[in-house]
Amino acid sequence: QAYNERESLYIALNFARNLFVENLKSDEGKSIGMSYFRERGFNQKIIEKFDLGYAMDSWDHMLSEGKKAGHSEAILLKAGLVLEKEGDKSRIYDRFRNRVIFTIHNLGGKPIAFGARILTQDKKQPKYINSPETEVYHKSDVLYGLYQAKQAIRQADNCYLVEGYTDVVSLHLAGIENVVASSGTSLTEGQIKLIKRFSDNVTVLYDGDAAGIKASLRGIDMLLEGGLNVKAVVFPDGDDPDSYSRKVGTEVFQSYLKEHARDFIEFKIDLYNQEAKNDPIKRADVIRQVVQSIARIPDPLIRSVYIKESGRLLQIEEELVQTELNKILLKGQ
Ligand code: CTP
Ligand code: MN
Ligand code: MN
Ligand code: MN
Ligand code: MN
Repeated sequence: QAYNERESLYIALNFARNLFVENLKSDEGKSIGMSYFRERGFNQKIIEKFDLGYAMDSWDHMLSEGKKAGHSEAILLKAGLVLEKEGDKSRIYDRFRNRVIFTIHNLGGKPIAFGARILTQDKKQPKYINSPETEVYHKSDVLYGLYQAKQAIRQADNCYLVEGYTDVVSLHLAGIENVVASSGTSLTEGQIKLIKRFSDNVTVLYDGDAAGIKASLRGIDMLLEGGLNVKAVVFPDGDDPDSYSRKVGTEVFQSYLKEHARDFIEFKIDLYNQEAKNDPIKRADVIRQVVQSIARIPDPLIRSVYIKESGRLLQIEEELVQTELNKILLKGQ
C-alpha cells in the first residue's frame, strides 16, 4: 500500500495508542501504571473512555514494537514517539518512558499526540512530557478532551475550561462532561475558535494558585475578545478542579460550581477588591481593570449591559464607566 505521510503518521499514532493501552494490562503496567491511576480514583471505564495508558520503563519498547509492526524509524520520529540521541543521530530512543499516558485525540477521535505524567515526586524531571508539534498535531489548535466533550458542550450550551489533563478526567468522573483543557497556561486564538464552534458560553475553572489566577485573567480577556460570554470559578488556594472534586465529592463539587460561577466582571472586581481594600487609588485601579476587559467585548449591546452592571457593582456612576471605556476604545482605533 502507498500511504501518504499524514496517513502513515495517523496509523503510527493509532498503533502507539494501542500499545500504551495494552502496556497498562501487562504486569509492569498493572503494578505501576494502574495503581497510579487507581490512587487518583480513575476507574476502568474512565481509563477506556480517555485511552489512558502506560509507557514501559524502557529505552526502546515503542521503537522495537513499532518497527516490528512495520512502522519505519522515520515515521516514528515524525510522529514524536521516538527521539534522536543528542550528538549521535544514528541512535534513537523512546520519548515516553516509565510514565502514565494521556492520549490526545483530534475532533474525529483519532490519536494525534500524548501527554505523559511522571510517577514520582522527582522535581528534577518535568511533571509532564508532551508530544512535539508534528504534521498532524498543532498544539495551539487542540483542546484536550474536546472529542469526549463536544456533544455535552452543545447540549449544555456551556464549556468548562480547565488547565490540565487530570482536571478533565476528574470532571467526567464527577458527572460533568462538557469540559476541555488548554493543557498548560496560555490559551490560544485557535483554541477559542474551537470552543466557539460548540458554544458561546465558557466557564473558566483554572487552578486556585497565583499562576492559575493570572492565567485566568489573561484567558478571560482573550475569550471576551473572541465574542464568548465568560464566567469563572475560583477554587480554594492550592486546589485545582481535580483535587477539589476528590476532596469534597461529586455532589458538593457540582453545587460549588453552580454557586461560585460568576460573570467575569464580578470575578475581576472581587479579585482586585481583595487587594485594594479601602485604598481609593487602588479602587480606581479596580475600575480601570474592569473597563479594560469590557473594552474587549466586540458586541456593543453586550458591552452596554456590562457597563450598567459594573456601575452597579462598583457603586459608581454608569457614565463614569462609559467615559473610561470610550478612552480605551478611542485609543484602539
Ligand atoms: N503541563 C505540561 N508540562 C508541565 C506541567 C504542566 O504540559 N511540565 C500542562 C499539562 O497539560 C497539565 C497542565 O499543564 O495537565 C496543568 O499543569 P498542573 O496544574 O501543574 O498539573 P495537573 O494537571 O494539575 O497535574 P497533577 O494533578 O497530576 O499534578
Ligand atoms: Mn498542518
Ligand atoms: Mn497549575
Ligand atoms: Mn492537579
Ligand atoms: Mn493543576
